[in-house]
Amino acid sequence: MKTAILSVMVIVMAVAAQAKGGLDNTIRPGEIWPDDKGVHINAHGGGVMEYKGMYYWFGEHKSDNTSAALVGVTCYASKDLVHWKNMGVALSVSDEPGSDIERGCTLERPKVVYNPATKKFVMWFHLELKGLGYRAARAAVAVSDKPAGPYRFIRSGRVNAYRYAEGVTRDDIAELETIRLNEYEWWTPEWRKVVERGAFMQRDFEGGQMARDMTIFVDDDGKAYHIYSSEENLTLQIAELSADYTFHTGRYVRVAPGGQNEAPAIFKKDGKYWMITSGCTGWDPNEARMFSADNIFGPWTQHPSPCVGPNAKLTFGGQSMYILKVKDKFIFMADIWRPNHPSDARYIWLPIEFDAAGVPVIRWRDSWNMD
Ligand code: DGJ
Repeated sequence: MKTAILSVMVIVMAVAAQAKGGLDNTIRPGEIWPDDKGVHINAHGGGVMEYKGMYYWFGEHKSDNTSAALVGVTCYASKDLVHWKNMGVALSVSDEPGSDIERGCTLERPKVVYNPATKKFVMWFHLELKGLGYRAARAAVAVSDKPAGPYRFIRSGRVNAYRYAEGVTRDDIAELETIRLNEYEWWTPEWRKVVERGAFMQRDFEGGQMARDMTIFVDDDGKAYHIYSSEENLTLQIAELSADYTFHTGRYVRVAPGGQNEAPAIFKKDGKYWMITSGCTGWDPNEARMFSADNIFGPWTQHPSPCVGPNAKLTFGGQSMYILKVKDKFIFMADIWRPNHPSDARYIWLPIEFDAAGVPVIRWRDSWNMD
């Protein structure tokens, strides 16, 4: 009897702890993750930045029945990556009609990095203008003097207009200029060939390259890169940012042309860059892809998915969101989208392991301890 009472007490305490944001350091992938007020964290598709011993989690605020941005980018703060304090809205959508970030726009995958030279926090995100579906395909930038904001919106647009990717030769350009994309039927081998050559890069030469799903990576030398789905989501591009992190320098490379990669997440270990992406299936999960390179500008080599365990073929039901370096360890983060109830979308956080050859492995765990 005594044991039974004790067990019940333990369960009650555990449930209470969970409701309060958890007293232990357990991460439970796919479950409700309560903040300091006991409310499920609402910061989807985002990323985590460390600044002066504090972690800041930024993400898309999702409403109960629309994926449109009605609030903006939210921020949570934590010292242990498990218990998060809601810091409110870091970048608010605008009520000014016609504003790029007008309430009702689509604002996705915000990432924040700190620039020590300017002492500014720089936020980049994927922006779709209100009422235009996913046609705008813009990158947008906002800055703040404080980590949790408020962030000031600066501008949005396509990127690197009047620039070809690195390595594109005069002969390539001459050939690309002769391609008339509307003469090709989508998904035919001929179309695929011209896509791989860069026909969409050429099409967008004057207007700037499309920029949808994205992340930002700051390298050891302090240089920052914008990594995004471009060319109708068919090809990834990696573009160098200016020293203040708020402009594109014009240097970029194309990665996996025609490979249809979204949701890029990247980290560097022992001098090697690893990138995990997804395929393009809307809000539905698909099998993760993985790439590696010795240089951020490539060449990039594709590997099998790093996921192992139940539902690994569908990335455990999630889509890559961010990879956070914590000391010498890495945490893979993904979103389980709930398009019919967007605010109920869940988070998958799992530690990245490495096999004997140093290749990343992401093993499913129902729960794990941050310690
Ligand atoms: C998949 C992307 O990764 C998400 O960020 C979002 O854009 C959805 N597609 C929309 O269908």
